[in-house]
Amino acid sequence: MVNVGRVRAEYDDSQSLQASDILDFYFASDRRFGSLAAYYTDCTPLKRLDRQKTMKNPLSAEALRQLFLDARTYNSWQDRPVSDEILHQIHELTRMGPTSANCCPARFIFVKSAEAKARLLECVDKGNREKTETAPVTVIVAYDMEFYTKLDQLFPHTNARSWFEGKDEKILDTAYRNGTLQGAYLMMAARALGLDCGPMTGFKPQKVDEAFLGGTTFRSNFLVNLGYGSEEGLFERSPRFAFDEACQLI
Ligand SMILES: Cc1cc2nc3c(=O)[nH]c(=O)nc-3n(C[C@H](O)[C@H](O)[C@H](O)COP(=O)(O)O)c2cc1C
Repeated sequence: MVNVGRVRAEYDDSQSLQASDILDFYFASDRRFGSLAAYYTDCTPLKRLDRQKTMKNPLSAEALRQLFLDARTYNSWQDRPVSDEILHQIHELTRMGPTSANCCPARFIFVKSAEAKARLLECVDKGNREKTETAPVTVIVAYDMEFYTKLDQLFPHTNARSWFEGKDEKILDTAYRNGTLQGAYLMMAARALGLDCGPMTGFKPQKVDEAFLGGTTFRSNFLVNLGYGSEEGLFERSPRFAFDEACQLI
């Protein structure tokens, strides 16, 4: 357990703490004090981390392996639970990823209980059932079609809400694009915290919307199984495009 007072005192005096200490502090202080705003009004640890410029250094080879090079899409899972605390931590990181006008349209439903899991399995394609049933958590990555009503809170320096009101195509475009980006941030956050992911679109979105999102303005986008992956059932890594096949440098 992190000693928040100690970390705070050390951090006030020095710039030498590691990112992991600061993240521990960030999570611990958020849990203990409800909101960082109440505790550290103008100087959250993550802002301090920015100032420290440690985020500008390339990550270690170990980190790059964990996030990208060795990271795989998992189909089976170790019998190891995923705590609610780590789900909160995943969200803490995910929410920092950029979205247009900071619109943050993604909504995440962490399906963990046996009852909710059983309901979700009804909506999932046959080939995805076993991995979804055995995953400790499945996230429904959804987007809110009324995201723009929250822009007074999220983008307060201008009337961004008016950019969307009555513009259905722009609303869908923006919600889907940015909600999908946020789903990707969630997967990278989970990997950064040592978890593995299994994203899926093999499900009936309409059924998920009825079973989980009734009475909201949310729509399901894709699902992500979360847990600690087991190598069992892992396919050979499929090829990826070389730079020249996918990129132009002009
Ligand atoms: C949006 C999305 C939807 C996917 N849907 C499914 C799915 O329904 N069922 C499945 O078995 N795999 C699904 N996958 C897994 C992909 O096939 C897998 O991520 C890809 O082949 C790369 O595998 P790797 O991460 O192990 O290299 C999906 C992946 C993504 C990103």
